[in-house]
Amino acid sequence: ARWGLRVHAGRLAVEDVALAEIAAAVGTPTYVYGAGEIAARFHALARACRSHPTLIAYAVKANSSQAVLAHLAQLGAGADIVSGGELRRALVAGVPADKIVFSGVGKLDAELDAAIAAGVRAINIESVAELDRVAARARALGRVAAVALRLNPDIDPDTHPYLATGLRESKFGIAMSDGAAVAARARALPELRLVGLACHIGSQILDAAPFLASFERLCGLVRALQADGAPLRQLDLGGGMGIAYAPTDRELDVERLGAALTAAVAPLGLELVLEPGRFLVGTAGVLLTQVIGRKRSGEREFVIVDAAMNDLLRPALYGAYHPIVPVEVAAGERPTLRADVVGPVCECGDFLAENRLIAAAEPGELLAVLSAGAYGMAMASTYNSRPLAAEVMVHGREFAVTRARKTVDQLIAEEQLPAWLAR
Ligand code: LLP
Repeated sequence: ARWGLRVHAGRLAVEDVALAEIAAAVGTPTYVYGAGEIAARFHALARACRSHPTLIAYAVKANSSQAVLAHLAQLGAGADIVSGGELRRALVAGVPADKIVFSGVGKLDAELDAAIAAGVRAINIESVAELDRVAARARALGRVAAVALRLNPDIDPDTHPYLATGLRESKFGIAMSDGAAVAARARALPELRLVGLACHIGSQILDAAPFLASFERLCGLVRALQADGAPLRQLDLGGGMGIAYAPTDRELDVERLGAALTAAVAPLGLELVLEPGRFLVGTAGVLLTQVIGRKRSGEREFVIVDAAMNDLLRPALYGAYHPIVPVEVAAGERPTLRADVVGPVCECGDFLAENRLIAAAEPGELLAVLSAGAYGMAMASTYNSRPLAAEVMVHGREFAVTRARKTVDQLIAEEQLPAWLAR
């Protein structure tokens, strides 16, 4: 009953579609997304922020599937993008340019040109050099570019070190001490319209406190700019709202977070912008995989499955925890087993779970890796010449393949040999 998952006649289902049915139709490994869970998350956050105008700009990097993007666009979400590729994906999926914010520490001229030409809501500026470059590109295009300054509030969000982006020593954002000078420069450049301030302190944050602390840091500069007559539109507090992965993880109290943030921003008269990725799609995704075999090596037991680190990198890269459960959950206790769940990739780091107590799964059985909707498919690769997983979206009783699995010959056909080898 959690995350849109159900059990129908002893079989695990996403909404009303049994995962076994999807595996039979599409094969494995396959990512399955529940449209209802994405909508539920979006509405929960929107509801939490209802008391004040708020733009929920979905961080496309978490899951850039066109179906996911189009679904969120139809719910009213905007997009937080970090590349020209994500800009294109968001526009094609139907996200209006006025709901798109462009983040990222290394934006290319061609990407800036595309964003300025599309008329995005804000380009979140990371440095003085970038500010000047955006002005130059806008001048060349004969346009005025809307910009926000991404400040580095120097807040420790208490998360994995790879996921903390708002510390002073990180590569992201403009130092608070430079904020006023950079804002003055932005306001002096006729090709730019300064629409607000932004920050993003990290990812997988489960408390409201770090968000409120970064708001506090930004608030003084907002007031100084407003006192100086700057017609600001928005305050963008970034993404990073976390989800529960392990059964012992607590849930983010989104109602409380939304109430606190909107109450804080309201007196400034600015729209609130949020850039959640994981929170909207993380729990909505399951990675469906089949057990290839079991193996014992000394004291260690391995369950070998057909999904691997190329499909879901988070366990290997961050030691991340994703629940793994059998798809056949028919009545009766089944024996458990302490094992590593590993894929076929030739790397010791290729595991989906380490030293985990799981239901004893036999070869041929299906397993579901849960909470895999964010940074799963988005970080997948074809390492070991493994075609990317298929993707499926479920909506009630219906399901649709939103990305078909490619054959290896299709992958090969995407390449060309140099003439001297083809002769
Ligand atoms: N805005 C900015 C500027 C960001 O850099 C990010 C994520 C987000 C929004 C969205 O963060 P979210 O709401 O999803 O936490 N690959 C890692 C996560 C990296 C996040 C990078 N930035 C993982 O698998 O946990």
